[in-house]
Parts: sequence; structure tokens; C-alpha cells
Amino acid sequence: MANTMFLSSSVKVKPLLSSIAYTPEIPCQWYNLIADLPIKPPPPLNPKTFEPLQPQDLSHLFPDEIIKQEGTNERFIDIPEEVIDVYGLWRPTPLIRAKRLEKLLDTPARIYYKYEGGSPAGSHKPNTAVPQAWYNAQQGVKNVVTETGAGQWGSSLAFASSLFGLNCEVWQVRASYDQKPYRKLMMQTWGAKVHPSPSNITESGRRILEQDPSSPGSLGIAISEAVEMAAKNPDTKYCLGSVLNHVLLHQTVIGEECIKQMEAIGETPDVIIGCTGGGSNFGGLAFPFIREKLSGKINPVIRAVEPSACPSLTKGVYAYDYGDTAGMTPLMKMHTLGHDFVPDPIHAGGLRYHGMAPLISHVYELGFMEAIAIAQTECFAGAIQFARCEGIIPAPEPTHAIAAAIREALHCKETGESKVILMAMCGHGHFDLPAYDNYLKGNLVDLSFSEEKIKASIANIPQSSA
Ligand SMILES: Cc1ncc(COP(=O)(O)O)c(C=O)c1O
Repeated sequence: MANTMFLSSSVKVKPLLSSIAYTPEIPCQWYNLIADLPIKPPPPLNPKTFEPLQPQDLSHLFPDEIIKQEGTNERFIDIPEEVIDVYGLWRPTPLIRAKRLEKLLDTPARIYYKYEGGSPAGSHKPNTAVPQAWYNAQQGVKNVVTETGAGQWGSSLAFASSLFGLNCEVWQVRASYDQKPYRKLMMQTWGAKVHPSPSNITESGRRILEQDPSSPGSLGIAISEAVEMAAKNPDTKYCLGSVLNHVLLHQTVIGEECIKQMEAIGETPDVIIGCTGGGSNFGGLAFPFIREKLSGKINPVIRAVEPSACPSLTKGVYAYDYGDTAGMTPLMKMHTLGHDFVPDPIHAGGLRYHGMAPLISHVYELGFMEAIAIAQTECFAGAIQFARCEGIIPAPEPTHAIAAAIREALHCKETGESKVILMAMCGHGHFDLPAYDNYLKGNLVDLSFSEEKIKASIANIPQSSA
């Protein structure tokens, strides 16, 4: 009886709108680009001995499975069923054609975006927070600690920890802690403890506060604080929201889904664009497409977009450097502005990181991708156009991808090319409205970029890196 009640419904339904492509399935494997690279990336180094890092060097920070994934050369890694089950709360995510933006720009280009903002935290970050929390819980870990820049990553780990019964403590970069009180409340709602960084709780934080009591903080400083807590407490492990191989690996669920969605609508991307902080949303979308590019099936241009105020790929050096400010992490070969570089407090807090994922740096050096830097006023101008056409209010980070996609679409208008532009729309900006307030009132400015400041911090990169 109950079933026939539903079947007899007379409400008419329409097929899905042609501008939205869903896939019915969530991928059951993550993809590891290292397996297909012609030259393997340089290994991370032990910060004390400068020798290649051994798995046991990481065991105070990460659970065994994560350490294994960090160093693996396997092409595909199975996603645990429990993780797929949680992914099902928001995945598969939609691939949407920005038809109204195309019309506004009067471009022959076709613009698509893969939207990750429908996750509980509002971005791509739960794609890795969930497996990281899961592997820690499986190993019997009770407490996890982390840093957060935009607040997106801290919220994601708080959410994932709540699902698997972990205690979660987050060091939120001071600039973001002050700009985004609602991110802090989200984390607290999911049961996490939140501290502004630099804080008085850790030695690294106290050292910074002694030099600069009003320090706006940086991701590098917040990482030092969280890593220090994990190093000092045997029952506590550390989780990172970007940069490392295992994080980029988990994010490939985005690109794998997107390949199927593009195939289903008969499209092939000519240009793939994503913003880069530590590189995880960009790598997550781009890496599966780079696999297809390396195999000769497609040949898209792959373009990272970073903020002009923190341009690690376009203005940094490619050298071994620490992942944090205090020099506690392994040395990684990456494009870096120097581990003690403190970027100006631009609104895209998630892009204020001194380095780039070593894997992205390596792929960049191999010439499989390119990078540009854009200043924040152009990004917010693009975000406003996007919001008024497409409805979604983007987080400040993906406004960089939007601005670059708009540049490309306007270039197509000049040349008459009908390129297919695919961009990573990695999160919404519902908790970033003060940034929009600033922009709409005309108060948002492009923070000056200081070559001198970068030169000074690059001079502090460890000498062994030469
Ligand atoms: C919405 C959003 N996008 C992008 C980023 C940048 O990180 P990644 O380069 O690892 O994607 C962040 C980081 O916090 C973020 O919150």
C-alpha cells in the first residue's frame, strides 16, 4: 500500500537541465599521479640529517595508512567503504555549465565548473578530512590537531572528527579568526576546540608573539603550533589540509568524477583552471586529466592561479624548504617564498601559504602545467559577475579561478575560439561575506607586493637546499 501511494503521484517531472551533469556513482579509488610521471618527484628530507625521509620519521604525526599513502607509487588506492558512505552525503558533486556567465561575457567559449561547495563544510576539504579522520580512528588515535587558514579546513576536520569520535583542536590563523567568527562557531558546533594562531599555548606561537604581538599569523605559523602539539603528545596526531601527497591523492575524487561527467556530455576541456594555496583542489581536479594528457588522449592547458600577494609558483624559488615557519616539518622540494614569509592578510586566507605542494611544483617543473598570479580586486570583480549570473557566492579562494576563467573567455571572444574552459569551484563564501562587504563598499584594495620582503625570507631557506 505504502509503495503505491508514491507510485500514484501525479506530479510531473522534467529531465535534468542540460547545464548540470551528475554521475550516478562515486569513484571507489583515488588516483596517484606519481605512478605515471616520467620522472619521480624528489624525496622529502629529514630536517635534522638532511637524508631522505624514512616512514618512521613521520610516525609521531600520522597514522600508518596515511604514511603509506604519502610514499606510495601505486597508481590507484581503494577508498574505504566507510569513507565512500560519508562521501555520499554530498558526492557526486555537480558539473555545471555557466551558461549565464557565458552570455554576460558574450563569449563563444563554453565554461564549466565542478562545484564542491555542497559539502557540509562548504568546500572540497572534507574529501580528505574524512579519510584522514577515518584512518586515525581506525588506529585508535583519540586526538587530532590541525591549522586552518580560511577556516574551511578546520571546519572540515571538525566535521569529520565528530563522525568518528575524535577530539579535534584547531589553530586558526589570527587574520581569519578575526574576520570569520562563524567559521569558529561551525568548528565548535562540531565539537572542536579553536585557538587563534599565533597563540600562547605553544613555544612556536609564543616566539612569534614576542617579536610581533599583533601578528596576523600565517598558515606556516599555525602549522608549527599544531605540529608541536602532536610532537609533544603521544596520544595526538596531526592532520594537514593541503600540500602533502596523500591530501592531493584524496582530492582526485573530484577529477575522476569530472572526467566521467565530461564524457557523458561529450565535452573535452581545452583549459583547466584552479586556484592554488597548497594545491589540493587544483591537483584534485587536474591530476586525473594530466593522466589522460600524458597518455595522449587529450591535450588541455592546465593553469594554476595564485594570489599576487602570495605567488609561490610564479615568484618563489624551487628549493628544499620547511612546510612550517618554525622549521619542524620535513624539508620538501617545492616552490617557496621562504618558510618565514608572512603574506599580507588578503581575504583568500586559504591561499596565504608560503609554499606549493611538492607534487604540483614537480609537475610545474616538468612543464605539464602553467601558473599565473591575479590580484584580489580583479578576483572579487569576477566573483560578483559570477554570483549575479550563476547564483553561487564563491569563497574568496576560487574567485582566483573565476577571474582567470573570465580572462580566458574574453580572450576567446577576441579570437572567436569556442574553447571548453573547466574550472574548479572549490567552495562557497557564505562565511566570507565581510570580504564582499569590503569589496561592495569600495574598501578592498590590492595589497602591495614586496620583492624585498620575499628576498629576505628566501635568504632564510636552509642552505642544504641549494
Ligand atoms: C575554499 C578553499 N579553496 C582553496 C583553498 C586552498 O587550498 P588548496 O590549494 O589546498 O585547495 C582553501 C584552503 O583553505 C579553501 O578553503
